[in-house]
Amino acid sequence: MGYDMGFRHWIYKKTGLKLRKNVDYSVRKKTTISELATVWSQVVIDDESTVDDHSYIISGLVKNTKIGKYCSIATNVTIGADRHPTDWLSTHHFQYNDTDNFKPLKITTIGNDVWIGANVVIMTGVNIGDGAIIGASAVVTKDVPPYAIVVGIPAKMIRYRFDPDIINKLLELKWWDIEHYELIKNNINFSNVEKAIEQIEMLKNKVA
Ligand SMILES: CC(C)(COP(=O)(O)OP(=O)(O)OC[C@H]1O[C@@H](n2cnc3c(N)ncnc32)[C@H](O)[C@@H]1OP(=O)(O)O)[C@@H](O)C(=O)NCCC(=O)NCCS
Repeated sequence: MGYDMGFRHWIYKKTGLKLRKNVDYSVRKKTTISELATVWSQVVIDDESTVDDHSYIISGLVKNTKIGKYCSIATNVTIGADRHPTDWLSTHHFQYNDTDNFKPLKITTIGNDVWIGANVVIMTGVNIGDGAIIGASAVVTKDVPPYAIVVGIPAKMIRYRFDPDIINKLLELKWWDIEHYELIKNNINFSNVEKAIEQIEMLKNKVA
């Protein structure tokens, strides 16, 4: 199952947003991908990986990875790049399998609202915090804190997206648990993060 025409039309009527059609249903059968996520057909994704609401991946390889909500993942991205033994007879996987004493894969996690640029490689077992940005062509070998921007090989932080008090408020707010049409309908001021936080706090109090 994926977006059916009724759902697409309903979202379009509510928000004016057009949802993409290029959903790879054959991949969805095997993998836990939200009905509201978009994984394009140029993505190879294994059975263990999950992709949550409103995240999209354009092309690349995803292995043993949990991906949160509202993530934007560009072209030719490798997430959960597995290890090969460097000091065995060969680096080739014919020598081992999952039950042997070499584990090629750990769990990799991508938070919510993460933007991953083109040609990025994220090593297996790395955790990317909510709101982080991974610059184009970075190779990420270590965990990335929430709302950090990292670039380069190996990836290093250049700055945070916001001041610490704003980051703490965003992490507490968890705005990504709200559907985007609710945010749009309530005229959230997306370009002013302080105002947006206030508005979403009020919205959550109204619903609670
Ligand atoms: C990481 C990124 C978001 C940073 O944007 P920014 O905050 O506007 O940063 P700036 O352009 O001001 O650059 C800041 C510094 O980081 C460097 N830098 C920026 N992006 C870099 C990258 N991808 N790799 C290496 N260095 C990078 C700049 O050269 C600059 O260095 P300097 O301070 O020595 O001059 C952006 O450069 C990027 O890589 N975006 C991804 C684009 C992409 O892949 N889009 C795909 C379609 S979704």
